[in-house]
Amino acid sequence: MKMDVLLGLQWGDEGKGKIVDVLAPQYEVVARFQGGPNAGHTLEFDGIKHVLHQIPSGIFRSQILNIIGNGVVLDPIILKKEIEGLGKFSIDYKKNLVVSKKATIIIPTHKLLDAAYEQSKGDKKIGSTLKGIGPTYQDKIGRSALRIGDILSPDFREKYDTLLAKHKTTLSFYDFSLDALPEMEKQFFDAVEFIKTLNLIDSEYVVNEALAAKKKILAEGAQGSLLDIDFGSYPYVTSSNTMTAGACTGLGVAPSRIGEVFGIFKAYCTRVGSGPFPTELFDETGEAMRKEGNEFGSTTGRPRRCGWLDLPALKYSIMINGVTQLFMMKADVLNIFEEILVCTHYELPNGEKIDRLSFEIAEIDAKPVYRKMKGWNCSLKEVSSYDQFPEELKGYVTFLEEELQVPIKLVSVGPDRTQTILR
Ligand code: IMP
Repeated sequence: MKMDVLLGLQWGDEGKGKIVDVLAPQYEVVARFQGGPNAGHTLEFDGIKHVLHQIPSGIFRSQILNIIGNGVVLDPIILKKEIEGLGKFSIDYKKNLVVSKKATIIIPTHKLLDAAYEQSKGDKKIGSTLKGIGPTYQDKIGRSALRIGDILSPDFREKYDTLLAKHKTTLSFYDFSLDALPEMEKQFFDAVEFIKTLNLIDSEYVVNEALAAKKKILAEGAQGSLLDIDFGSYPYVTSSNTMTAGACTGLGVAPSRIGEVFGIFKAYCTRVGSGPFPTELFDETGEAMRKEGNEFGSTTGRPRRCGWLDLPALKYSIMINGVTQLFMMKADVLNIFEEILVCTHYELPNGEKIDRLSFEIAEIDAKPVYRKMKGWNCSLKEVSSYDQFPEELKGYVTFLEEELQVPIKLVSVGPDRTQTILR
């Protein structure tokens, strides 16, 4: 049995939460492998909207084991709040949720460091979610981080104090107040006691034993490929490998065990935070997209930058991830446009047209070259199968498939579970 992977091909917020929830009945295990509470996975069913930050999106299905893997950075305070928020759903989280002892812990000063680093960057800010992601991964790679397994050790407090002292030294170089720290620490140690009551495991064994027992596993990515620490628009990226390879290291699964790779993209593009975005729209069209798509961050509430679909970027993400199936999200947001644009190339200042994301491309003033297509310009509310799609939408799907050379197997036409068209 192989493990399937689901990931975002753009700058995050593609709608991964909804799709994990839709696919979940086919799976017995759903596992998060990277990132942390910077993610906000939105699920909508029975008229209610749920946003998950650290808990895998299979949690609403009682037959699914949800794993927070070793590649994740975990904020105990946020996890405790999230679990408490699930109280009304009678979810048996002690049975259906397990946490890797090798997951890295976000401590309060990681969040302060995140804010201090951002503050010091001036107009070169990353636009971080300020959840402490970068500083925590820094400590992981620097071999000084605390891991979930450490909370069970009698000298946890000592280990914490050592890391705290290191952080305080660093923070002393910044003009940054520590006034909030005592209250944050109180909440942190409270939450740590709560986390001790969860099922803390060596998740690499659980995942590999599940595969050996022919159980179906879905690895749920967070953020998007263009935010990958190696291949994203560095330095405007997150601090983990958001790509398929990250699912191997973030769960302890061999590359030969990867099965289907589901690549999720929006029918247009959005980005939160700073960094290059060649197709970004600064006019009323971009404003209309933001309004129609309700493009405001589910973690920070920030308005998302909006623009037309970028094919060179999408081809790049498909290449580095080995995508086998594409899922196109939020097609209904484009209902309002009479004309739809798709970027097929970039034009360099010397007039040359390219369709690659080279190291230099972010630095150069590359202009998008668009193909214009007639929009369908009608509601998709009544549509319940692909045959019922307006011809222009079918044309959009076919054009993208020809360009991307990967089948589009699913088109989402609204936020609810039921507004999902399979092909
Ligand atoms: P960080 O991961 O919080 O440090 O943020 C780094 C960059 O990634 C910023 O531009 C964030 O806006 C962006 N980012 C982080 N997590 C997400 C996400 O889940 N969706 C979209 N963008 C994200």
